[in-house]
Amino acid sequence: MARRTPDDMTVPSVPDWLAEGYGHVWLPYTQMARVPPPLPVAETRGTRIVLADGRELIDGIASWWTACHGYNHPHIRAAVAAQLERMPHVMFGGLANEPALRLARRLAAMLPDPLSRVFFSESGSVAVEIALKMALQYWLNQGVRGRHRFVSFQGAYHGDTFAAMSVCDPEEGMHSLFAGALPEQHVVPLPEDEAGIAAFDAYLARHGDDVAAVIVEPLVQGAGGMRFHAPEVLRTLRAACDRHGLLLIADEIMTGFGRTGTLFACEQADVVPDIVTLSKALTGGTMALAATVASERVFGAFLSDDSDAALMHGPTFMANPLACAAANASLDLFEREPRLAQARAIEAHLAAALEPARGLPGVVDVRTRGAIGVIQIDDMSRIDWLKARFVDAGVWVRPFGDIVYVTPALTIGEADLARLTDALIDVVTAWSRER
Ligand SMILES: Cc1ncc(COP(=O)(O)O)c(C=O)c1O
Repeated sequence: MARRTPDDMTVPSVPDWLAEGYGHVWLPYTQMARVPPPLPVAETRGTRIVLADGRELIDGIASWWTACHGYNHPHIRAAVAAQLERMPHVMFGGLANEPALRLARRLAAMLPDPLSRVFFSESGSVAVEIALKMALQYWLNQGVRGRHRFVSFQGAYHGDTFAAMSVCDPEEGMHSLFAGALPEQHVVPLPEDEAGIAAFDAYLARHGDDVAAVIVEPLVQGAGGMRFHAPEVLRTLRAACDRHGLLLIADEIMTGFGRTGTLFACEQADVVPDIVTLSKALTGGTMALAATVASERVFGAFLSDDSDAALMHGPTFMANPLACAAANASLDLFEREPRLAQARAIEAHLAAALEPARGLPGVVDVRTRGAIGVIQIDDMSRIDWLKARFVDAGVWVRPFGDIVYVTPALTIGEADLARLTDALIDVVTAWSRER
């Protein structure tokens, strides 16, 4: 029997495991005093989420932008199962495993030269922490003191750990509460026009002496509200970093692996950063894995007779063979199947299908880039109503900030994609009428 919560959200009858365990979990980004309980998921299949009561939702989010091949892809499952038989895990300190070394070689081959040294970890935030640490120590190892801060951008999101929080937008990055506890960084506007470029350059000339690196989400600021910028902005940043002698870190955790229509977003600007962070779709959304990939120049600064010059980092589960096997299988799929063409086809569909939302009262903007479609609205006070309507419409869509958005699996079929965008238009139209 379905029941309705005070927030008017239809939830299936609650299975025992949810009823018994719910009092013991703490959910992400959730006010536990008032939120409706989460929907119990029985299984995932392709681009569908199957609920405990048998209802199927078409997945619009690909589990926070990870499941680029859809769920339960047989090729990834087989690779993980085979690896599970041989060796689920072995430490990476002093021991090497074949899936990790193969993955490192393949990532280095996919990224432009001279990005060639892969440091593994197990989450996006940690990959960012490692990138920041690499950049700080890059200078210290060369005897340069005082470069202990970073330039990041308004609207940025780089993760929830402390150094990662410090380079997020301080107002919108969900972390303003911790302002006093975080290292202060230089958070500035993205240089998007001539005046912005001049201001950015002047800022670096004035404050650049204490800066180790500039960190940016290339082309799309994801969790900051799916805001897009032009490839030209990345070229501006690369040129500015070269002029002022700074490292450039590209956080491709959200954009990497086809989401913007190219394998990596930086490709669209023909820009090569000094350090790249990867996670999310790295394993096709199946397991926790991340990578921080450095250029030979950055890596070279850590080579020395002095053991203190080594990178002092080593997450316990780094280079986990199971996760690396999943990532290798995911890369096979990128090689064998037309994922980038699929991303571009999704972009064309989203651009046409979301257009009717433009001009609705309360709709501020409609935009698409690659397999990302966004409807920006002027009031999110009825977010629970919106979430409930999407579930009722048979789709899994999670509005946040001021946007209703979709980032489906790149493998989503035409019929499911059409049902997803129809639901988006229907729900936003109903919201617009009732506002
Ligand atoms: C660009 C970017 N960087 C870092 C992160 C943090 O990744 P994780 O949630 O795996 O720690 C995210 C997560 O959304 C992200 O979008």
